[in-house]
Amino acid sequence: DGKLLIWEGDLAPVRSPVCVKTEKGLEQKVIGATPLLTSKESLAALDAAVRAYDLGRGVWPTMRVAERIEHVERFIVHMQEKRQQVVNLLMWEIGKTQKDAEKEFDRTKDYLVDTIHALKELDRNSARFVQEQGILGQVRRVPFGVALCMGPYNYPLNETFSTLFPALIMGNTVVFKPAKFGVLLIRPLLEAFRDSFPPGVINIIYGRGRETVGALMESGKVDVFAFIGTNQGASELKKMHPKPHRLKAVLGLDAKNPAIILEDADLENTVNECIVGSLSFNGQRCTALKALLVHKKILGAFLEKFIAAVGKLKPGLPWEPGVALTPLPEPGKPAYLKGLVDDALQHGAQVLNPNGGEIHGSFFYPAVVSPVNAKMRLYYEEQFGPVIPIIPFEDDDEAIRYVVDSPFGQQLSLFGKDPKRIAHLIDSCANQVGRINLNTQCQRGPDTFPFSGRKDSAEGTLSVADALRVFSIRTIVATKTT
Ligand code: G3H
Repeated sequence: DGKLLIWEGDLAPVRSPVCVKTEKGLEQKVIGATPLLTSKESLAALDAAVRAYDLGRGVWPTMRVAERIEHVERFIVHMQEKRQQVVNLLMWEIGKTQKDAEKEFDRTKDYLVDTIHALKELDRNSARFVQEQGILGQVRRVPFGVALCMGPYNYPLNETFSTLFPALIMGNTVVFKPAKFGVLLIRPLLEAFRDSFPPGVINIIYGRGRETVGALMESGKVDVFAFIGTNQGASELKKMHPKPHRLKAVLGLDAKNPAIILEDADLENTVNECIVGSLSFNGQRCTALKALLVHKKILGAFLEKFIAAVGKLKPGLPWEPGVALTPLPEPGKPAYLKGLVDDALQHGAQVLNPNGGEIHGSFFYPAVVSPVNAKMRLYYEEQFGPVIPIIPFEDDDEAIRYVVDSPFGQQLSLFGKDPKRIAHLIDSCANQVGRINLNTQCQRGPDTFPFSGRKDSAEGTLSVADALRVFSIRTIVATKTT
């Protein structure tokens, strides 16, 4: 109802990936607490969104676009005032380096500004009338209803907002659940939400997913489900909706983006791009390079340079200058990654770099694992962390087969110079992935580019402009002219 209340219910501690020494050893530092809502309380938040939407007759869905834009502009001003607090929390809560934390904040603000520009353009186009075969028509974009938005822990501000704001600005009302890691950083923005939007238009829930989000899905009152996370999480939640055919899903899911490195690739550029591609934010990006397919003729030379470059990456705390490797927020992650590496070792691979795979508290030192083959979990399982599987190949068709057989299809990187071979690889893989990157790492940006994926990697396309379309539907107003 627009008031900020003091929470008197249960709380769960929020732990940082940054560890402190205790008598039990290294332990993740407790840096705050977050409310644990019951299903009843979550449903009350949903009902507020349902009331604000009011079957499409509410103040927000019927508001002029220019006015909705003013609300978002107000939010941007308030948000900018909280930059330092949010950046600090990005470092403390998810271990993002200061540079990456600042980038995430600024990129998110730019995303909102670009969204406003894109909406003005879309609105101008929608205002046009078209006349054909004696019928005059105007195509309008209208909202779906109530959107539930859930972002991932690796971009808890940016990717949460990249569905929340397009959904909102198109006239939907929203319930959103902050990521499990990256939950505190929403707190400095609560007043900005309250002061920028009418009551009931944005509602935030906290707590255990099954209890809170599960109840919302089971209620059947969610019209749009925007989720960035795992396939498993998305399909479990989707199944709970009593009318799945009435649920619009916008999903960013698992990926296992490969790099195919041909023997004529520029070694220095390839190594640099593969280091950033596989290890920035410790490989915890959906777009990270998660398998390096290296032609056997260049394997030795590539590995020598790649391993040397891994050795130069500095581990440390997020705010320390020059740091590249930081602690991992998910408590079970180091053990999970070790399990993946052990499985590969049991099937004949080796860890090639010194200290590769060592665990210190919540640090996992990057492991370069080679040769990886289809018997090993690392071949197709998404590691989402600092383990780099090397898959040697001889024939380009072997590399193409890897891409075609993969259950995932987000992006691909190709490194090489021979235009004919590159063209053949592009033609063979273009219908398998959402984007092919030439002599560069995989990435989502620029945010105006369509961001999607094939197979089990995505449903729907996001980008500044695409997101506005994905969270709205066209309705035609038509009349006869003759
Ligand atoms: O984690 C998934 C993100 O969409 C990756 O975005 O390529 O800009 O790091 P990015």
